[in-house]
Amino acid sequence: MKLLSSLFADEQVHPELLQKHARIRWKTVAADVIPLTAAEADFPAPKEVTQMLLDQISDGYFFYCSPEGEWELRELVAEISQTRYGIRCQPEHIVLTPGTAAGIWLVVRWLCQPGDECILLDPVDLLFGLAIDSVGARRVYCRVDKNTGQLDVEQLKSLLSPRTRLICLCNPHNPLGLAIPKETLQAIGELALKQNVMVLADEVWHEIIYPPAKHVSLASLEKEFAQHTLTLFGPSKTFGLSGLRIGFLVTPNEKIALQLRQVALQLGMAYSLTLYAQVGAVAALRYGWSWRDAFVAHLQQMRDYCVSRLNRIPGIYCRQPDATYVLFPDISALGMSSQAFADFLLAQARVAVVPGTTDWFGPGAEGNIRLSFATSRFVLAQALDRIEQAVTNYIS
Ligand SMILES: Cc1ncc(COP(=O)(O)O)c(C=O)c1O
Repeated sequence: MKLLSSLFADEQVHPELLQKHARIRWKTVAADVIPLTAAEADFPAPKEVTQMLLDQISDGYFFYCSPEGEWELRELVAEISQTRYGIRCQPEHIVLTPGTAAGIWLVVRWLCQPGDECILLDPVDLLFGLAIDSVGARRVYCRVDKNTGQLDVEQLKSLLSPRTRLICLCNPHNPLGLAIPKETLQAIGELALKQNVMVLADEVWHEIIYPPAKHVSLASLEKEFAQHTLTLFGPSKTFGLSGLRIGFLVTPNEKIALQLRQVALQLGMAYSLTLYAQVGAVAALRYGWSWRDAFVAHLQQMRDYCVSRLNRIPGIYCRQPDATYVLFPDISALGMSSQAFADFLLAQARVAVVPGTTDWFGPGAEGNIRLSFATSRFVLAQALDRIEQAVTNYIS
């Protein structure tokens, strides 16, 4: 473990390499800015992934792959779905997508017509709303309490209508860092069953969870829930592989899996799968688990460090997340909007964060900002020093 923990030591984060490679963060900001924006890791992925990809391309061939994807990967995903998440399924039930994000689009496209309604949490990551908009369906927001992380199932029930096609869950939740409790999931499963509504359970964050919190998959709770649930995950967050672009949709219903594959073909999505993403995913799922364990141990320390430092800054309150590597501090006491505070931090602290605007996370996000802590302690210390200094200057 000692050796593995050194994978996440300060010297593993190289700003000059990140400025070259991290296309939507370090590369887009000025050299003196620390980007705590997009939720991706600043560390090299498990070395077995790199090695298997190098082996794959070393003969110089770049061939097409089948639109159904590699059987070996589907077998592995089915095995892991059962052993780690308690979801009973076979390789036939796994639909590969070019990223978890693409999986959201696929499900929405499969289920919804213009004018249909989809329930999404508020706040929540922007992907859900964008996917719903893309098919002309209507967003129906279900508030999550930002302070307690509670999701009110009675409220969810009140939002259902004859036009509701889908309930989108994000578990663990980005940006609240919340693992949805088993009792809440049980109630949501019962509701979905009774009302015959499908649930998209985006569980891409399921492995970034801090003990004693535990991730529970909705589809693992009851066989009938699983029939109403499309579980979605991928290796982006678990293994630091955001650029690999591969996602897994799991349904124990073979008919649904076939329909999803059909829609993926119609959208050209099935032809967007690459062998390299699949080879990388196989390597991660076979050999990446000790890397993941050390990563989560590092992240837990960084979470504790960042939360305690943020809470020492006047005007900022940060709830401790039990999952994910994002924080969503409340900055409303400072009297600035989320956008104004993000602009202020960029200008005065040279730290980039994501503002809690409606566009990013829904109307309920106002008053907060999101920052990612999947980097080194050294980088975080610098960023927090600068934020603390800028806020202290502002209020004094
Ligand atoms: C809830 C959620 N779903 C999906 C994604 C995107 O995952 P992927 O990189 O596999 O497309 C993210 C990324 O932040 C996310 O937070």
